Amino acid sequence: MGKLLGVNIDHVATLRQARRGRFPDPAAAAAIAELSGADGITVHLREDRRHIQDRDLAALSGVVTTRINLEMAATEEMTRIARDFRPRSATLVPERREEITTEGGLDVLSQADALSRTAAALREKGILVSMFIDPGLDQVRATRDAGADAIEIHTGAYCEAFLRGKHEAELSRIRAAASYADSLGLQVLAGHGLDVRNIVPVLAVGQIREFNIGHSIIARALFLGLAAAVREIADLVHGA
Ligand code: PXP
Repeated sequence: MGKLLGVNIDHVATLRQARRGRFPDPAAAAAIAELSGADGITVHLREDRRHIQDRDLAALSGVVTTRINLEMAATEEMTRIARDFRPRSATLVPERREEITTEGGLDVLSQADALSRTAAALREKGILVSMFIDPGLDQVRATRDAGADAIEIHTGAYCEAFLRGKHEAELSRIRAAASYADSLGLQVLAGHGLDVRNIVPVLAVGQIREFNIGHSIIARALFLGLAAAVREIADLVHGA
C-alpha cells in the first residue's frame, strides 16, 4: 500500500494571527494542498489558540474533501470540541503553553488512565485515535493498552541528529518502534521536523504509512508557492 501525506496548515494561521486578520486563510491553504497531492489536512487547536481558531474548524469542514486530523491535548475542553466536530482522526499530543512547538511525545505510561478515558470518548464518536509518542517500545505498548488505533512517532530527535549527520541511532529507534507497533496491530504515522531531505531515510521504514508535515512545507511555500511545496514532498511520499 502506498504512503500518505497529511499537510499541517497551522502556520498559515500563525501568519494570519500575526495581524489578527483574515489572511492568509487556512481553509484556502487546505484546498490548494489537496489539489497538490495532500491526502489529508492536519490542524492543531491549541489551548492558547495561538494559530488555529475554533472558527477554522467549521471553515475546514466545508472545504476539505480528503480527511481532517485534529491534533489536541487530552483535556475536557478539547474532547468536547472534537466530539462535536468529529474529524476522521484525532492525535493526542502533549501541550505546554511555554513551548514553541510540540517538543516531545506524550508520556503515555504516566497518564494512562486519562489518555484511555479520552481515547474512549473519541472512539465512541467514530473518531480514530492516534497518540504522538517518542519512539520507545514501552510507550508503544502503553499506547496500545490505552486503546489507541495508531501511534504517530515524534521524529524531532531524529531530525536534530540528521542535521549533525549522525542519525543512524535515532533511525534505528524509529524502525524498532514502527515494527513493534505494527506487530501489535497499530497503524504507524510519523511527523515533526520532516522536510524534503531528512524524510528520505524515514520513507524506507515500511510500517510507516503516513506522514504529517507542516513547518517545512509552509516555509518553502514562501519561496516556491504552496502548490509546488506540497507537490514536491507529496511526490516523495507517494513514490516511496
Ligand atoms: N505531527 C504532530 C503530532 C505535531 O504536533 C506536529 C507539529 O505541530 C507535526 C506532526 C508537524 O511538525 P512540523 O510542523 O515540524 O512538520
